[in-house]
Amino acid sequence: MRAVRLHEIDRERGPQNFRVEQVDDPQPQPGETLVKIARAAFNRRDVFISQGLYPGIQLPCIPGSDGVGTVAAHGEGARGPAVGTRVVIDPTLGWGPDQRIWLRSAQVLGMPHQGTFAEYIAVPAGNVHPAPASLTDDEAAAIPLAGVTAYRALVSRGGCTKDDVVLIPGVGSGVQTFVLLFAKKIGAKVIVTSSSDEKLERAKSMGADVAINYKTSEKWEKEVAAVDGGPSLVVDSAGGDTFFKAVNVTRYGGRVVVYGGTLGDAKLRPFSLFWKQLDILGTSMGSPRDFAEMLALFDPSTGSGHVIKPAVDKVYAMDEVVAAAESVDKGAQFGKVLLAVT
Ligand SMILES: NC(=O)c1ccc[n+]([C@@H]2O[C@H](COP(=O)([O-])OP(=O)(O)OC[C@H]3O[C@@H](n4cnc5c(N)ncnc54)[C@H](OP(=O)(O)O)[C@@H]3O)[C@@H](O)[C@H]2O)c1
Repeated sequence: MRAVRLHEIDRERGPQNFRVEQVDDPQPQPGETLVKIARAAFNRRDVFISQGLYPGIQLPCIPGSDGVGTVAAHGEGARGPAVGTRVVIDPTLGWGPDQRIWLRSAQVLGMPHQGTFAEYIAVPAGNVHPAPASLTDDEAAAIPLAGVTAYRALVSRGGCTKDDVVLIPGVGSGVQTFVLLFAKKIGAKVIVTSSSDEKLERAKSMGADVAINYKTSEKWEKEVAAVDGGPSLVVDSAGGDTFFKAVNVTRYGGRVVVYGGTLGDAKLRPFSLFWKQLDILGTSMGSPRDFAEMLALFDPSTGSGHVIKPAVDKVYAMDEVVAAAESVDKGAQFGKVLLAVT
C-alpha cells in the first residue's frame, strides 16, 4: 500500500521529511478491524513529531491520528461495524476503565502504532465507529482527535451548559473550531479570539457571538471581561500569556480547562484563583465514552437540533503531504487540513 512515512526528525525542516512510500499492507490481528482509509487529517501532533517535539518518538513511523474509510475485513473474534460500513476511528488506544483518567500505557494513534496516513490501517475493533451520516468524508475525517479533545474539554471536564459564556482563545486551531461547534450546539454564548479577521468572520458564520482580534486589540482581555462580566468557562490550548490573561478575566466561580500549551509555560496569579474560587482543569484526548457522546452531537436530532459541520480548511493529495504539513506548521489554516488517501 501507499503510506506517508517519516524517517528523520528535525526542529527546523521537520515538515519537509514526510515521504510517500510503498509498504506492506497491515493484516488485522485477533480483535482488530482493517479499515481502507479514504481521507486522513493532520493534527499539530504530526508536525510536532516531525520536529522532534513529541515524547517517545520511534522511527520510521506512519503518522496520522484521524481517518474516515470503510471496513475492509475483521480479524478473528473482532466485533464491529460490518464490512463495507463507512467508519471513523477513535484515536485513543487503551484508555482504560476509569472515565476520569487514562492509563499511563494509553497511546494516540499514529506513532508508535501505525497511523492513518496510509491506504489501510488495522486497529482494535472497539475503536471503529459508523461515521455520522450527515457528514461528507472530508467533514468526518476532520473529527476524531480534535473532536474528542474538544468534547472532553468543553463537556466532560468543563461541564458546559446553555447558561455558560465560553471563551475560546485562538479559534483558528483545529480543536478550538470543534469547541465552538459544540458550545453552540449546547446553546452557550461564545466569545472567540484570533490573530486573523478572516478567521473571526468564519467563526461568526459558525455561530460565535463575540469575536475579538488578539493581535490588533492590545487589551483584548478587557474586551472579553466586558461581555456579561467575563466568561464562566474558558477552554484554552495557547498557554503562555494567553492562559494568564484568560484566568484573570474569568468570572467568580468560573472554570478554566486547559489541553495544550502552544505558547509555552504560563504564569498564574494565586489571588485570581482563590478570591474568585476558580477551578482549573487539565484534560487530554478522551475516553471511549467521550468519543461516542461526541459523535452523537453530529446527529441533527440531538441537543438543540442544530446541524453542525466540522471546519475543513483544505484537502491535499497524498503526494502533497509536505505542503499540507507546512501549512499546519504555519498555523494559517482555519479548521482541519486533510489528506486524500484513496
Ligand atoms: N492534550 C491533548 O489531548 C491535545 C489534543 C490536541 C491538541 N493539543 C494541543 O493543543 C494545541 C492546539 O492544537 P491544534 O491541533 O488545534 O493546533 P493548530 O490547529 O495548529 O492551532 C494553533 C492555534 O493556536 C492559536 N494561537 C497561537 N498564538 C496564540 C495566542 N497568542 N493567543 C491565542 N491563540 C493563539 C492560533 O489561533 P489563531 O490562528 O486563531 O490566531 C493557531 O491557529 C497544541 O499545543 C496541541 O499540542 C493537545
